[in-house]
Amino acid sequence: MTPSTVDDPLKNLSEDAWKDVIDAMDRTYSELVDYQERLEKQNRELDDMRQFMFSVLSSVSDLLLVVDKTGTIERTGGAITKILGADTRAEAGVPLVTLLEKPEENALPVAIETVMRTREPTMVEAEFATSEGPTPLEISVSPRLDQRGRSQSVVLLGRPLGELRSAYSELEASHVALQQAQTQLVRTEKLASLGRLVAGVAHELNNPISFVYANTHALQKYTERFETYFDAVQSGASRPELAAMRDELRLDKTVRNLRTAIEGAKDGAERVRDIVEDLRRLSSEGAGKLVSFDLMETTRTAADWVVRTSPQPLDIAFEDASHRQARGNPGHVQQIVMNLVQNAIDALADTPSPSLTLRVKDRDDHVVLQVVDNGPGIADKDVAAIFDPFFTTKPVGKGTGLGLSISHKIAEEHDGALTLAWTGPDGTCFELSLPVEEGA
Ligand SMILES: Nc1ncnc2c1ncn2[C@@H]1O[C@H](COP(=O)(O)OP(=O)(O)OP(=O)(O)O)[C@@H](O)[C@H]1O
Ligand SMILES: [Mg+2]
Repeated sequence: MTPSTVDDPLKNLSEDAWKDVIDAMDRTYSELVDYQERLEKQNRELDDMRQFMFSVLSSVSDLLLVVDKTGTIERTGGAITKILGADTRAEAGVPLVTLLEKPEENALPVAIETVMRTREPTMVEAEFATSEGPTPLEISVSPRLDQRGRSQSVVLLGRPLGELRSAYSELEASHVALQQAQTQLVRTEKLASLGRLVAGVAHELNNPISFVYANTHALQKYTERFETYFDAVQSGASRPELAAMRDELRLDKTVRNLRTAIEGAKDGAERVRDIVEDLRRLSSEGAGKLVSFDLMETTRTAADWVVRTSPQPLDIAFEDASHRQARGNPGHVQQIVMNLVQNAIDALADTPSPSLTLRVKDRDDHVVLQVVDNGPGIADKDVAAIFDPFFTTKPVGKGTGLGLSISHKIAEEHDGALTLAWTGPDGTCFELSLPVEEGA
């Protein structure tokens, strides 16, 4: 059978034309293959992206709901079953209100409506109804905008309020604990300086008081002798009898001793009075009241108190090269000096011939106290830290590390300064500068 040649439109195509057609078909085919490959690649990428988004959304520890304009859930994600329970009806297509506790009073629908309208995100507290009962959540409501910036739907991210509250109250509890610890430490520091003070007071009062006591004891003995003699006079004893009695009772010597005993008791009492006076000055806080005072005098009093309780003998020198009065609260300044002197004494514990110089001089409109010791100095690595609260190189129970930081604070409150002037293997010098009394 021969093919019909009458109406075959390709019959007259030349060989070349055939070749063109076949080439064109080849090209189209290979373009199609390319396109197919690109499509497959994009599909794979899309799939990866979807997987990625899915894993991100399911790892969100909050509840995640996307709600459309009609209030219907579009998508769910995050820890939805963990938060709303395994039996929750929250899934795409369900109206959100059916999940809410008391929908008509619930703040969430109103918030969603507002966010849709204003496109401003907001936070709201709302209760979801779960099989466990009403579950309060803190919910962030954000608009999901389309390419033209119009609200398409809202994204809800919710977290149980209980969790937040307990995290917050835990935070608060630890804050309170920290504050208590801090207060306790400050109290301990105050107690420590109080302890030093009390030890100094006890030690110092002990002497004059036992002096007074011994003298009054003697006075009592003397009084008894005179009573015996006066009784004899009263009962009409003869002159020779009385003379013998005077000898026996050593009354002439007793009269002389009486004077000495009275003098001694008076001295002791005066010493006690001075100590009490010192103490009163030390404790007169005056609540930040600033007065004009003599820095050298305050320094001496403060140093005396500390040196008294020092375990080792110490060479202490006071040098006064200032004629001006400082302005401040002497009680507080005394506390600084006590801290500096105590630090120096602690540092001098192993120094063969320990010495301490307390020098007051003028510098511009300030009076400066230098506290210089010949101790081992402060290690380079510690220099930057010594004014930090709680920094100490002393064993537990010996130092709280608050001395310098409190002193530094007090100096600043006085518009003055406390600085480490120098330190090295031959010793250390701290400088306290205080403003001079104006017009002085
Ligand atoms: N004169 C000094 N020589 C050597 N080191 C010093 C001297 N003064 C202070 N330091 C160092 O600075 C540290 C901090 O001093 P700070 O007075 O603040 O605390 P502390 O004396 O250790 O304890 P606290 O004063 O509370 O009893 C000390 O532990 C010590 O290492
Ligand atoms: Mg100290």
